[in-house]
Amino acid sequence: MAESRPKVWVSQPLFDDIVERLHAHFDVVRVPDVSEHDASAIANALREADGALVTLNERIGSDAIADAPKLRAIANVGVGYNNLDIDALQARDIVATNTPDVLTETTADFGFALMMAAARRVTEAERHLRAGQWHGWNFKGLLGADLHGSTLGILGMGRIGQGIAKRASGFDMRVIYHNRSRLPADVEREFNASYVDFGTLLAQADHLILVLPYSAASHHIVDAAALAKMKPTATLTNIARGGIVDEAALADALSSGRLASAALDVFEGEPTVDPRLLAQGNIVLTPHIGSGSLATRRAMVALAVDNLIAALGAGPDAGHPSSVIAPAADDGKAAKRPGTA
Ligand code: 8YV
Repeated sequence: MAESRPKVWVSQPLFDDIVERLHAHFDVVRVPDVSEHDASAIANALREADGALVTLNERIGSDAIADAPKLRAIANVGVGYNNLDIDALQARDIVATNTPDVLTETTADFGFALMMAAARRVTEAERHLRAGQWHGWNFKGLLGADLHGSTLGILGMGRIGQGIAKRASGFDMRVIYHNRSRLPADVEREFNASYVDFGTLLAQADHLILVLPYSAASHHIVDAAALAKMKPTATLTNIARGGIVDEAALADALSSGRLASAALDVFEGEPTVDPRLLAQGNIVLTPHIGSGSLATRRAMVALAVDNLIAALGAGPDAGHPSSVIAPAADDGKAAKRPGTA
């Protein structure tokens, strides 16, 4: 009798020509349409699986894997992995991988685009025009803030944060950052970035951008008290995870003029967006597309597919997936301060 092949579950439609590579090694169950899988659907899908390719939409915790005796690997298509309970996976010796590096430059590009859009009120101005409200050129209409010559504050100085700092030098911005751990002096020099404490970052930034991982330590780290420390002329951009910002406090700060403007690509309850944010004019809102260039999304899927093949002991890198997620002690949960992305 032929030996049965390992089974893998692919949780969302990705790029068929890349996912196809899994078929050489495994029996593959693919989901044909973009789907919201609830906890029991995920548990069902994993019951017979040896491995899975998942996205941020799928929460994989102890409940999801309790009835999945064969499960050995979870390949996350994304660098952030707050959808995975790493402690629960490790307790079962299930390897988890993510997709760092391939999305760094694309996500840094997008963070910059959002920050510029917030500062110069790009989407607000477009809504004004499309609504037929542009009745004549107005010298003082829709005035924004400059990026050049201003102070950029980066919270989370990992790969993407460093990519943003690199871009800021072309805009003659002064770069300050706060991070779980201070970067070595030569790296600070390379990015012309100065380390400051969190309070100083909030107080001095003309433009603050969030690029840190989401964890218990970073939940609502930007709350009403943090927003109160920011300049009323400042902008806030979040390309990390929605739960880092207290959205109700942000809506208050924007409506009261406590903060000039904001740009959010991520939301605490996505795909639901808090109506108090939708009601604000001075905010740029995008549907979690930070890594969304075609080339980068393809590269992410390719890396995740390679990781899954290797983690399940097949292919040229059998047993050695390239981006295994670090042990739980390093994932930011234990840290008191924000970490890196
Ligand atoms: C991904 C992201 O598109 O990589 C991340 O952490 O937030 C996005 O780039 C998303 O995670 C898809 O799963």
